[in-house]
Amino acid sequence: MSEWLIRHAHMLDLSAGVDYTGDILLENGCIAQIGPFLSRRGCRTLDADGLCLAPGLVDMHVHLRDPGLTHKEDIESGCEAAAAGGVTSVAAMPNTAPAADSPETIRYILEKASHAKARVLPVAAITKGLTGKELTDFEALKRAGAVAFSDDGCPVSTAYFMAEAMRRAASMGVPVLAHCEDKTLTRNGLIHEGAVSQALGVPGVPAAAEDVGTARELSLSLSTGAPVHICHVSTAVSVQMIRAAKKMGAKVTAETCPHYFMMTDEKLLACDADYRMSPPLRPERDRLAILEGLQDGTIDAIATDHAPHTAEEKADFVKAPNGVIGLETSLGAGITCLVGQGVMSLPELLYRMSSVPARILKAPCGTLREGGIADIMLFDPQESWVVEPARFHGKSRNSAFKGLRLQGRVQYTFCRGELVYQRA
Ligand code: DOR
Ligand code: ZN
Repeated sequence: MSEWLIRHAHMLDLSAGVDYTGDILLENGCIAQIGPFLSRRGCRTLDADGLCLAPGLVDMHVHLRDPGLTHKEDIESGCEAAAAGGVTSVAAMPNTAPAADSPETIRYILEKASHAKARVLPVAAITKGLTGKELTDFEALKRAGAVAFSDDGCPVSTAYFMAEAMRRAASMGVPVLAHCEDKTLTRNGLIHEGAVSQALGVPGVPAAAEDVGTARELSLSLSTGAPVHICHVSTAVSVQMIRAAKKMGAKVTAETCPHYFMMTDEKLLACDADYRMSPPLRPERDRLAILEGLQDGTIDAIATDHAPHTAEEKADFVKAPNGVIGLETSLGAGITCLVGQGVMSLPELLYRMSSVPARILKAPCGTLREGGIADIMLFDPQESWVVEPARFHGKSRNSAFKGLRLQGRVQYTFCRGELVYQRA
């Protein structure tokens, strides 16, 4: 284990009340000391003049594609992309092959992740094979190391199973992460149903496909008293329903993703499948509602829904699977769009990308405290850069951020006290 003394960094962490320029000492995988001035001989030093230092980001919505779909991504490559994006923990979604519905698969993920450049927090399937027909063994999956339950990608179609999943997960103190979608409304829709789908003459997905799902999960949470986390919120109506449910006392938390606050369905006019994901990009009024939801705290966290697919799969606009990658661009997108446009302060953004998701997942990270784990990242808040997917560290290139200019760039990432990324 190496020791590191990082000096002159602007340290930022709302959860620990840290906002000053000083030094931090990493020892045995932990934060040994933080202060305005530290001295220590014999350890490696890093001069962080001009850089901000924050808890490593915790991305609570990532598809690592491992086991089974490793031509798109695997645990190693996904964690490499995470490290390059300043992300030190990723919640790995269960729509793998096989699905993460057995203790063996959870153990496989954790074993492979033990050598990776980020921590992997496995999310187990709610139903066997993500088929919506039979609940998995929650107790055994939690014992194997699952931190949450979700059928993301194949949302649980019957309310009964979802209610039962919420009750069971609540009794175990583990969150349910809900991909809200009524597939009977999605049908064969490719993009948001509206002016753009009409102009292109392609089948649309109505906003109601998401909203009906959101309404169901909020109602179930209210009636069972169990917590629920709403994934990738993209519509104005869902934001308003979540806001109302919170006022009614529901134990609900929510996330959105950078593509929903940064772009609209006009991107689809290019007929490029790199802008297709589920839920789809929406019109400007929804984007503005997402910004409001972020601003007033209705939307608690920011995650990426990093969903790698190959260039071959994405080549056909109509046949391509849904999903965009995001691990290497989320911090820059947040700084550019949310901090740059005054939606929230930089410390608040970092908090919503690290401490808040860590709290929802009950993971012992996302904070700068002496004795805490040494998962941290350093970034230059001023550096402006253009997104070039060819330079990404993951296996896939399906980024909706390609060609965009972003502000704020990760320079160093430490996970478990080890340097796992340094910008070349
Ligand atoms: O766009 C998406 N891609 N949405 C999902 O729900 C699943 C994900 C994937 O696995 O590709
Ligand atoms: Zn999803």
